[in-house]
Amino acid sequence: MSKTRITVAKGDGIGPEIMDATLRIIEAAGAELDYDFIDIGEKVYLSGNTAGITNESWDTLRRNKVFLKAPITTPQGGGYKSLNVTIRKSLGLYANIRPCKSLSPYIESKHPNMDVIIVRENEEDLYAGIEHRQTTDVFQCLKLITIPGTRKIIRHAFEYARNFNRKKVTCMVKDNIMKVTDGLFSQVFREISAEYPDIESELKIIDIGAALLADRPEDFDVVVTLNLYGDIISDIAAQITGSVGLGGSSNIGKGFAMFEAVHGSAPDISGKNMANPSGLLSAAVLMLEHVGQLEVAEKVANAWYKTIEDGIHTGDIFREGSSKQKVGTKEFADAVIERLGQMPQNIEAHKLDQDGFKPIEIEEYERPVQQKDLVGVDVFVDDATISADDLGAKLQALAGDTMKLKMITNRGVKVFPDGLPETFCTDHWRCRFVHKDNPKDVNQMKSVSRESVPALIANLVSNGVDVIKTENLYYFDGKLAFSLGQGE
Ligand code: NAI
Repeated sequence: MSKTRITVAKGDGIGPEIMDATLRIIEAAGAELDYDFIDIGEKVYLSGNTAGITNESWDTLRRNKVFLKAPITTPQGGGYKSLNVTIRKSLGLYANIRPCKSLSPYIESKHPNMDVIIVRENEEDLYAGIEHRQTTDVFQCLKLITIPGTRKIIRHAFEYARNFNRKKVTCMVKDNIMKVTDGLFSQVFREISAEYPDIESELKIIDIGAALLADRPEDFDVVVTLNLYGDIISDIAAQITGSVGLGGSSNIGKGFAMFEAVHGSAPDISGKNMANPSGLLSAAVLMLEHVGQLEVAEKVANAWYKTIEDGIHTGDIFREGSSKQKVGTKEFADAVIERLGQMPQNIEAHKLDQDGFKPIEIEEYERPVQQKDLVGVDVFVDDATISADDLGAKLQALAGDTMKLKMITNRGVKVFPDGLPETFCTDHWRCRFVHKDNPKDVNQMKSVSRESVPALIANLVSNGVDVIKTENLYYFDGKLAFSLGQGE
């Protein structure tokens, strides 16, 4: 087998100790790897590099394409950019994968049979970081969901399920409320799941989905979801295994992947030979699978399970009575190495289907050619003093010859026409303008000219209306492509 060259960062705090232990174990198991070591983290930050990584290290990362990373310490004080976020965004690591498996009874968990993989979309959603304060009262964060981003993550979840012989993929969304964004996610899930008749698929609303995951995790297998929900449920799932400190995760992109432990650099126990290398070792198993060294991955995982079963535990998981021997980082690694080739007796062994396994490749995105028609505009207005009815009357008079004011909402609730006096209003009004001759049916709206929008805005502004932003209303291929106001 030809060797795979990977980039390794030993990181900060306990990083070097757990990385040495991890590399020693995977080498002993027969991993065919060459390494380029790079410095990232605290030292680099403190040298004045606010990104925590040098240009040379970037070159190495980009060349090798596979990165095993120990935790790093982010120095106290502001101005330091999160290295994880930088790497994730720069290299397009669209999938975050977190296996959450209970190791009960060796590690206490209320859910002894759970074995869930959380596949979290990693680049989009509210994490694009596009936020604005729009009025005195109102602050906004944009939630961006894309067709290519959604297709990639859902395809990845199903391909992952196939590779690892998983039986079911559950998609968690809130498409009953966010019909356009989460609606896209669930629609793509339905389309792609149809290509995998061998894998059961189900859709769950995120609130009840998260509750069920916390209560009956054994009912779940692979869960795919959007960035924010995934951030939350991956922590819930990891926590209820009882062994969050032992978890690893991967961040996968097109041709690039990063593997790391879930925990941080634990400066409190650094240099004391006390750290548990299991989290990074779990990440290394994911890395070995990624580079196709499946036998080695299996061997490492099973020897690790056997070590845990044999009660050989580092201080963080040692329990008087149930554990047998308290060991340090090095001795734990020795114990795993001694058990290479052995299988666990009670923890379900790690078994990979060597023949069925194939590297996950995501098809190129072909952007559909669609007819886009402008059918109106939402004008957002800042006004702290006016009533809904007065604003409605004022804007109706300023709508011009081709458009009319259809409605006004405040925080999404229709307040004009026919609002309720009880509705609390902020200073942030969404005012919907459409063609003046529209029929009632929202699926039969008439097009308006592109020029009519800036003309409307100019008219509003010159009449003292404080316009803070606009959103165009479109039909794509004749279909409504925006949400209706509550009560519209
Ligand atoms: P932490 O995960 O480093 O430590 C939390 C607690 O868990 C500590 O008591 C620590 O001793 C213990 N612990 C963590 N890993 C352990 C292991 N392998 N074996 C035994 N005990 C372990 O989280 P904390 O203290 O909030 O953060 C410390 C530093 O780590 C911070 O600078 C933070 O920014 C950084 N961090 C880095 C991450 C990364 O590089 N991916 C992720 C999370 C935190």
